[in-house]
Formats: sequence, C-alpha cells, structure tokens
Amino acid sequence: MANILFELKQAGYSYFGRFPALCSVDLTIMQGAKTAVIGANGTGKSTLLSMLDALIFPDQGSVKAFGMPLDDKMQENSDFTMAFRRRVGLVFQNPDIQLFCPTVRDDIMFGPLQLRMRDSEAAKRLDKVVTELKLASLLDRSPCQLSIGEKKKVAIASVLAIQPEVLLLDEPTAGLDPQTTRDIIDILVSENLSGTTLVTATHDLHIIEEIADTVHVFGPERNIIRSAPPEEVLSDRTFLQAHNLVHIHRHRHKDAGVSHAHQHDVKHHH
Ligand SMILES: Nc1ncnc2c1ncn2[C@@H]1O[C@H](COP(=O)(O)OP(=O)(O)OP(=O)(O)O)[C@@H](O)[C@H]1O
Ligand SMILES: [Mg+2]
Repeated sequence: MANILFELKQAGYSYFGRFPALCSVDLTIMQGAKTAVIGANGTGKSTLLSMLDALIFPDQGSVKAFGMPLDDKMQENSDFTMAFRRRVGLVFQNPDIQLFCPTVRDDIMFGPLQLRMRDSEAAKRLDKVVTELKLASLLDRSPCQLSIGEKKKVAIASVLAIQPEVLLLDEPTAGLDPQTTRDIIDILVSENLSGTTLVTATHDLHIIEEIADTVHVFGPERNIIRSAPPEEVLSDRTFLQAHNLVHIHRHRHKDAGVSHAHQHDVKHHH
C-alpha cells in the first residue's frame, strides 16, 4: 500500500494573521501521486505549496509530512529539517526569489552542496540537469541577467539537481515556449515514473492530464471546491467558466461582436 506523504486537516493560513490565504483545506498526498492545483488568481495555490514546503505553518488545523507535524517546533528538530529539505523541493512561482548566486552553475550546485553532497556527486547532477534542460550556454551567465523563461528553467534545474522525493512546482511552465514546456513536462513525467511525487500549481490546463492524476480546484473562499481526475474537470466547461479557468475568446464577425469559450484549454497533445 502506498504511503501517505502529506496530510492536511482543516489547514488554514492568513498572512500576518490578517490576510486569509488558505481556508479549511483537507488534502492527502500519497507517495508517487501526481497532483495538480488549479484556481483563479489569489485563491491560495502558492500558499498551499509554501505550506507543503514548510516555509509557512498552518494557523488553523494541521499539516503532517512523512508522519511528522509541520509546525514551528519543527525547527528545533534539525535532523528532521535537514531530511525534509532533501526530500522536498519547491520551484517558486517567481524565479527571482530562487536564484541568488553569481552564476547559473553556482545556483544549480547550491542545493546539492548545501545538502552536503560530495563535490563529484554535485557535479554529476549539474551535468544531468544541464543536458536535460539544455542549459550549457547559460552556465557562466549571471542568473539576474537572464530572460524570465531562462530564469524559470534554471530555477527548475536547481530544484531537480536536489533529486527530491517530492517536487512542488509553482507554475512550472508559465511563460515558457512550447518546446521548453514539452521538455519540462517530459522530465516531470519521467521523474514521476521513477517514483517522484509531483504537486503542481498551474494555469496551463493543457498540461494537467500529463502531470496530474488528481486535480484540486481552489475557489474564491480559498478552499478546495472540487477534487477529481483531470478529464472530469476539463470536460466540465460550465464549471471551468464559472471559476475563471478558461478565458472567453471574443472575435468579430462583420459588425457583431461574438464571444464563445476559448478552445485552448483541453487535449492538445493528440
Ligand atoms: N506575502 C503576502 N502578504 C499578504 N497577503 C498575501 C501574501 N501572499 C499572498 N497573499 C494573499 O493570499 C491569498 C492567496 O495568495 P496566493 O499567492 O496563494 O494565490 P495563488 O492562487 O497562488 O494566485 P496566483 O494564481 O496569482 O499565483 C491572496 O488573497 C493574496 O492576496
Ligand atoms: Mg501563485
């Protein structure tokens, strides 16, 4: 039987105790699962990922990871914290938060070295992600001088280099070109096939059938309003429109403005 990796019970969080960001979330994530989190802007997706990465702790309810509570006492247990950082990696929505070294090479090596891997092992991991993500030409560049998409790729590479058991991905394909998006999804799917658990927040509905077997939809109350397989959510157009998950494409026929739901959202890979 698969292990439970994360268990949230009625978990809630407000920034500064004032700005509600996550409300009464019940969520279980099994080892090896592929989970997607979707929802309109500001519904709590990034907050959930921060909580799963133990960057913030719930102020309501509870969160457990690997059977241990994630709360402010966690820091006192440095063995657990270190093990947690090896096991769980977060790709931030904003790559500028993630990249701070003088070169791309240093940024990718940072995680493995920080987690006390040998230099030779860190170098091996660097080579692997650089090949997979085609980053060779960027290695000596300064991350802050890259394009946004290049930064995102480097941020993803720096987390993949840790080879965590759980990858938390906040908008991993936002702003990436189609080929790069394809490469990233292929990497994620292959990591999952070798056992990595994936949790992805995204607005790219066309990727979720590949990167998710369960989709949790966040609503305006910043709670989960629906959990279902991707096909089920994607085929419910009324629901998608009601929750601001597909955009309305408007085009003009002669003088009349005609609008209908855009078709860019589902099944593009066949
Ligand atoms: N640092 C912060 N301080 C105060 N409020 C915050 C902070 N970060 C997020 N919030 C609030 O918490 C709520 C949830 O934000 P969150 O970033 O989790 O949403 P999201 O679903 O990831 O949105 P997006 O699709 O825009 O990335 C929002 O109402 C937001 O205004
Ligand atoms: Mg977000």
